[in-house]
Amino acid sequence: MTNAKSLSDEFRRAWGATPRLYRAPGRVNLMGEHTDYNEGFVLPAALEFSTMAAILPRRDRRLRVHSLAQSESLAQSETAEFDLDEPDPSPRHDWTDYVFGVAIMLERAGYRLCGADLMLQSTVPRGAGMSSSAALEVSVGFALLTESGLTVDLIDLARCCQRAENEFVGMRCGIMDQFIACHGVAGHALLLDCRSLEFRLVPVDPRACLVICNTMVRHELASSEYNLRRQDCERGVALLSQALGPIKALRDVTVAELEQHAALLPEVTYRRCRHIVNDNIRAVQAAEALEKGDLHRFGALMAESHISTRDDYEISCRELDLMVELALPIEGVYGSRMTGGGFGGCTVSLVEAGAVEHFTETIAKAYREATGIVPEIFTCSPGPHVGPVVL
Ligand code: GLA
Repeated sequence: MTNAKSLSDEFRRAWGATPRLYRAPGRVNLMGEHTDYNEGFVLPAALEFSTMAAILPRRDRRLRVHSLAQSESLAQSETAEFDLDEPDPSPRHDWTDYVFGVAIMLERAGYRLCGADLMLQSTVPRGAGMSSSAALEVSVGFALLTESGLTVDLIDLARCCQRAENEFVGMRCGIMDQFIACHGVAGHALLLDCRSLEFRLVPVDPRACLVICNTMVRHELASSEYNLRRQDCERGVALLSQALGPIKALRDVTVAELEQHAALLPEVTYRRCRHIVNDNIRAVQAAEALEKGDLHRFGALMAESHISTRDDYEISCRELDLMVELALPIEGVYGSRMTGGGFGGCTVSLVEAGAVEHFTETIAKAYREATGIVPEIFTCSPGPHVGPVVL
């Protein structure tokens, strides 16, 4: 609330009028990594960290955006302008691409937006893989639609935001981050079928806490390697179709089929496919384990998933592996794994509620001693999806 108040005050100071406020959350993914663009399953939860957009419509079709945010995509405090009638907009290769990209994709989808003054602020930790970019896109998209007097279809909003990243920013991400920002519910994770977009809310057992440990490292190759992983998967699908017929995505491949036709695939492609096929199964099983209150089973799946992202998909890094290795033996830990796109960022651990304090202290100390880096540790509860903020 303090944040909302200070953002509103800042808007009034800068632009002389009182704005309306909207927020959209960052996320942590509990299971199913890189499975979204393979039309498979993911199990993310929205976080209480969020990006807030203060907005007032304008009479013309200009967007004026000022960022006070400290998150990855909103690195500097600066103002940028954009004309919604610009015939051939091109990306500027900075945080404004997320904002203007969403406006462009909404307009292309047929929404007629009004111009607006926007001021942005974020509590989503910067560069940590908690989806600060999706929080930014979804908060801006929701604010623009609402202030233009349009009905917000949350599935369509998630799709337009994903399209902004795919087609304007140039990141070929799946739909997980934008979808959870649009549909997350406090206290719940969400099992999403990324093909049909059907989902099921899964309560997170209050006997356990989600603890996010930020390694504080971020490897710059993240987005190029991300797109390369997608290519590996597409190659796998093309080669496996020779034996399996016209399959659309790795979602259509079973473990038995993959093993039977492994010889069709180069070794690296085979391992990439194996990760996806198995993590899809794990996402569904993890949701079932949570529903049954079987936290030990959930933890075991987390540990398996980490090994798979490390060895088969090769998106982990030394610091993430270390954080997981340090977490697993600590008392009260059910499981731990890297989360998000990879190549740095955070791990997520499921920890018995009563053991969280001890966990936090122990892992922070051990990680600092091993690397010289002071990690950020967040104990999180799943938060709500995008919406207005009432002061
Ligand atoms: C990033 C992408 C998502 C998803 C994850 C990995 O967060 O934006 O679409 O692919 O990586 O699971």
